[in-house]
Amino acid sequence: MSVVKVAGRSDTWAATTPSCTYVFGVVRAEEDVRIVQWYWGPPLPEAALPEIPLAVAPRLTASFRDPYDIEELFPVDGGRRWGVPSLRVRYPGGVRSAELAYAGAEETAEGIELVLRDDAYGLRVSLHLTCAGDVIERWVSVSNDGAQAVQVERLDSGSWVIPERYGYRHSTVSGAWSAESRLGRRELPVGETTFTSRTGATGHHANPWIMVDEGDAGEESGEVWTVALAWSGSWRMTAQRRPEGDVAVSAGFGHDGVVWQLAPGEKLITPKTLGLYSDGGFGAVSRVWHEYARRFVLAFPDEDRPVLYNSWEATGFDVTESGQLALAEKAAGLGVELFVVDDGWFGARVDDTRGLGDWWPNRERFPDGLAGLFDGVRALGMRAGLWVEPEMVNPDSDLYRAHPDWVLHLPGRRRDTMRNQLVLNFARDEVRGWAFGWLDGLVREYGLDYLKWDMNRSFSQVGWPGAGERADRVWIEHVEGVYQIMDELRRRNPGLRIESCSGGGGRVDLGILRRTDQVWTSDNTDARDRQVIQHGFTQFYPPGVMSAWVTDSPNPLTRREVPLRYRFHVAMAGVLGIGGDLTRWGEGELAEARGLVAKYKEIRPIVQRGRLYRLAGDPGVTASAVQYNLDDQVVVIAYNPFALTDQPPRRVRLAGLDPEAVYEVTGCDDLATFTVPVGSRWHGRTLMSHGVVLPTWFHLGADYRSEILTLRRLDRLLDETD
Ligand code: GLA
Repeated sequence: MSVVKVAGRSDTWAATTPSCTYVFGVVRAEEDVRIVQWYWGPPLPEAALPEIPLAVAPRLTASFRDPYDIEELFPVDGGRRWGVPSLRVRYPGGVRSAELAYAGAEETAEGIELVLRDDAYGLRVSLHLTCAGDVIERWVSVSNDGAQAVQVERLDSGSWVIPERYGYRHSTVSGAWSAESRLGRRELPVGETTFTSRTGATGHHANPWIMVDEGDAGEESGEVWTVALAWSGSWRMTAQRRPEGDVAVSAGFGHDGVVWQLAPGEKLITPKTLGLYSDGGFGAVSRVWHEYARRFVLAFPDEDRPVLYNSWEATGFDVTESGQLALAEKAAGLGVELFVVDDGWFGARVDDTRGLGDWWPNRERFPDGLAGLFDGVRALGMRAGLWVEPEMVNPDSDLYRAHPDWVLHLPGRRRDTMRNQLVLNFARDEVRGWAFGWLDGLVREYGLDYLKWDMNRSFSQVGWPGAGERADRVWIEHVEGVYQIMDELRRRNPGLRIESCSGGGGRVDLGILRRTDQVWTSDNTDARDRQVIQHGFTQFYPPGVMSAWVTDSPNPLTRREVPLRYRFHVAMAGVLGIGGDLTRWGEGELAEARGLVAKYKEIRPIVQRGRLYRLAGDPGVTASAVQYNLDDQVVVIAYNPFALTDQPPRRVRLAGLDPEAVYEVTGCDDLATFTVPVGSRWHGRTLMSHGVVLPTWFHLGADYRSEILTLRRLDRLLDETD
């Protein structure tokens, strides 16, 4: 079992994963009860556990601070506490200050549940903890066993204490539409730093994970603590750093000011917050998160994600059967395996002002439905995919004219549109029933293999008239409604795969990834911008879920011109797709693209499921390289966007290899045949310590050079090989 009782201690447990031990237990502080985190760091043998003192280290205290103030797993708003509360309630009569007593623990095969009660009001709180590989998963359930409703104003999944160090630095991603996932690494300020989304979805501006180190961790060394939240609605994560030195991170779903009326007999369960410690630097932390996503989150982690074609950048809303089939023919010729028809196929949707909500094929464009188009796609040997945006409606639609009350709205308030659309309330049974009905119908009628599920605006005027005191629940129940429909669609259509999209990467998180297979990373397909975005994205999420398309040059958004090969090599670092207007690509370009797609299929299992190493450089800014290792296979992709402005070291040192083993070069680009020829053999130690010279990094050529090097580990040692 991964959670054990600490010998000789009452009510103290240790959770041990391959990379860490996490010790916690019950403390009675005068009349109060606290569940305190005692240790979070490198794995401790069971015999050493009793050496962890069960008292906070002495510190100057006065009548302004409680010694346990920041050390708790689940600090409540109540008693002598002044930090960020994980729970804030208002009891009947307006009474605040939760007073929880410890009511016992239940140890299970998977983990532990600690039960706390506020007996005066019948509130029962369960803190759950399990281990999943290297990650500690925690969540909370709150039940009302009393006779009157309790108002829950805040319910976080819990707080994590970062052990005391001389300094604290935090790494997060931030961004915007078309500029998602930009990695920031800076000192954690004293005070409370909150990362949040109030948009109703995960959001483009921040993503629910944080990494904290002492300021000394590097790519492949150093201690890093990290916390995440698996949730796709509004959320907040607050890192508090006290002037005295303590740091804790609290993570939760929900929204400021939103109140959950917990009626007698009801229960509210939070999403999971996840904790991970590693002493292997940021690279190791990324690899553990990737592994966690593959083993514990994704439904089909061992499946190759297909090379897809998507017509959005090529045709926009101008979707016709002949136009799509012309693209499909070209795409099939390149080796594309899945053809996805984007926005513009349904209702009166010829631009973004109308038709959203009317999910039948546009009668003028597709008088006989979509069967002809998808039969054509299948005849070309490709699978069929379709874009949908189920949670949205244009006011100019039959759906809205029939059901104006289905959208989020408040009586007597405006209904502000964005991109000419309003948000449907997926907390309502009839809305979910309608959505599931047409989605399931479409998937079955056309035998769809793939849905791109989009969500193109933030919530506003979030109301649910008629729901009375339950109205605020829409913030959470909308998200659960989306989850429920996706889960049910997948249950009924086992071959269906889903891509999560929200104006690019606006809904990327471990909650949505439990029911989708990949995500649209960004609407920005400029290869150089994408390198920056992909660098931030893969800090936490695996390359095997990161959709990346090769589009036209100059890029339609940025106007930057980038050679085809570089664009491909950037997209080949994730799940390759093509989104350019293939009818305008010349024969030479098509032939080059065909070769690159074939190359991608060779390296795909290693890129999509391998262990990622960021070898060097600042992707998209300087020369850089990434490496993927899977079993005995190694893939290195190197990039250099500039000629000579910033000369990098000429050698690239590989990582994560067996130093004693011998590796043989199985593929390289033309110029590399002088330095790392195919068939040449190298010890892992040489590759890692001395490195190899890659032409991309030293050659005085034009801008935007890139190359792929592949190697295979041999079974024999070098002196046995000849
Ligand atoms: C969003 C998506 C795009 C495309 C359009 C269609 O912006 O991110 O990829 O699907 O919607 O309207």
